[in-house]
Parts: sequence; C-alpha cells; structure tokens
Amino acid sequence: MQLRGSWNMPSNDMLEDILTEVSPLLGQGKVANYIPALAKVSANKLGIAVCTVDGELSYAGDALEPFSIQSISKVFSLTLAMNRVGDALWARVGKEPSGQSFNSLSQLEYEHGIPRNPFINAGALVVNDILQSRLSAPKQQSLALVRQLSGNKCIMADKWVARSEYEHPHSARNAAMAYLMKSFGNFNNEVDQVLQSYYMQCAFMMSCVDLAKAFVFLANRGRPLFGAKPLLSPKQTKRLNALLATSGLYDAAGDFAYRVGMPGKSGVGGGIIAIIPGELSVCVWSPALNEAGNSLVGTAMLEKFTTKLGRSIF
Ligand code: DON
Repeated sequence: MQLRGSWNMPSNDMLEDILTEVSPLLGQGKVANYIPALAKVSANKLGIAVCTVDGELSYAGDALEPFSIQSISKVFSLTLAMNRVGDALWARVGKEPSGQSFNSLSQLEYEHGIPRNPFINAGALVVNDILQSRLSAPKQQSLALVRQLSGNKCIMADKWVARSEYEHPHSARNAAMAYLMKSFGNFNNEVDQVLQSYYMQCAFMMSCVDLAKAFVFLANRGRPLFGAKPLLSPKQTKRLNALLATSGLYDAAGDFAYRVGMPGKSGVGGGIIAIIPGELSVCVWSPALNEAGNSLVGTAMLEKFTTKLGRSIF
C-alpha cells in the first residue's frame, strides 16, 4: 500500500533485511539481571513489527513472541492518567528530560519531590499513584486497556516477573523514591500497593505485533486501531509524542533522536516502541541492553528502519 507521502509500507522483506543486517551485533550489551526472571530470557531473540494507521501489519523474526514490556507500560499508564486527569497531572510531574538514568533518585530531593518526567521510575510511580486514587481497579483497568488497544484478549501479566522484581533489593530504590515524594506531599496512597500495581503493569507480556498495534493510536491522533472512540485528543497525542521524543529513552534520548529520529519508549525487557505521527507505529525486541538500559540491537534496528524508509520526524 502507498502511505501518505512518497514512500511505501515497509515490506516483510525489508524487515527481514534489517534483522540480517543487525545480527552481527548480537552478543553485545547485557540482558537485565536486576529483575531475576528477566535474566533467563535468551539474548538472541530478535523481532520487529510495524502497524500503519490503516491497520496494515508487517513483521519479522520473533515478532509474535510475548516478552516483558517493563517501562513501555509507562506510556499506557500515562495515557490513562492524561485521559482521566487532563492537564492537572502536570502539577505533580514535570515535562523535562532528566539527563539521569531511569532509576535515579538524586533530582527528587532538590526538586521538591516532583519527578522530571513521567517516564523515569519516579515519574511513573507518581502516575501510578494518581491512577490508584482515580480508578476503581487500576490493575484490571490497565490490563483491559492493553487488551483493547492490541485486540489481543490473551495478554496477561507474568506474576513471576512482577514478584521477582518486588522481592529484589532493587525494589527498595523505587520504594525510596515513593517515600521521598510522600514526604514532599506528592504521593497519596500506600507505597506498597502502588509498587505492586506498577510492577504488575511492567510485567505485561506482549509481542512486537501486540505493541505495534497497541501504539497506533499515537500515530493516529489518539484513535486506537480497535474501537471508534479516541483515547486522547489530537492535542494530547501530540504532547505525549513530544514527551516520548524528549524523555522516552532517558539519558539516551538525544542519541536516539540523532540516530533514529522518532518518538520512542524502551523497556528493560528489551522492547522499544516508536512512532511516525500520521503514519505508523513500530516495535522492536532484542533483550540485551546498552548502558542506558535501552535495547542495544533494538536501537540499531530502528536506526536502519528509518534510514531504509527515508523517514523520520525531523
Ligand atoms: O522499575 C523498574 O526498574 C522496571 N520495572 C522498569 C525499568 C525499565 O524498563 C527501564 N527502561 N528501559
């Protein structure tokens, strides 16, 4: 199919070529091991899927295999919060890049408990605190949202992944952020309850195909692939994409913009989703991470994708 502009729907062959070209990079980077259940995933998994705003799908490699979406879930929770709370949300979380790693605590103290943006862990915890206050059943409603957006009713959270993260000492760091924010009056619910709900969302198991379909709404002015009702207004969608472009890849957002040129969000499960507004969403998966906690080969796949397509947002 001919997409808007003068370029074509990425073919399965093009996606296969990308996988072939990046495969020499396999072996570089490290699979996340601070969530013990994630350390068991093979570092050789490699998948890519693209979904256009018209619902056309192409994919290659391990694109149908579910993986732990981790921080990609922060986009779903932010969407729910923007949908429910609107602009009042921005009194509790900022819109600036942090220039720090995703689990850094340092800025929170001198910035009075207001996290820099909704994608670092502190910001996502505030968003989840808001959802805890606003939704009757946050865990179930988040799961219902991802099932609706992807059209896949079988999506589940991997409770073993969620539990292994909750029980690992690293979880104390997330708890520390939440308590620090509580001390500044920016966290209202019980820390443990919000943490468990956050880990459950991070543990959603989705494939590249599920995620490419689910994020088409960000390419389509807030309109999901399934269901007639927009999830966000065109203005809110534009803003969410702007936040993804500036903060979605944490302190590697600049490098990602430079090499890839799309708004995107990564997760320590090795997935990255990215958007070309008005055109398509794409998801890649390769579990080994670079130093910033983003998929090393996934970033290379997306770089090749926009290069071959001759498209980026810049
Ligand atoms: O809270 C955490 O540290 C993880 N559940 C999610 C971190 C993550 O995915 C960072 N992204 N690259």
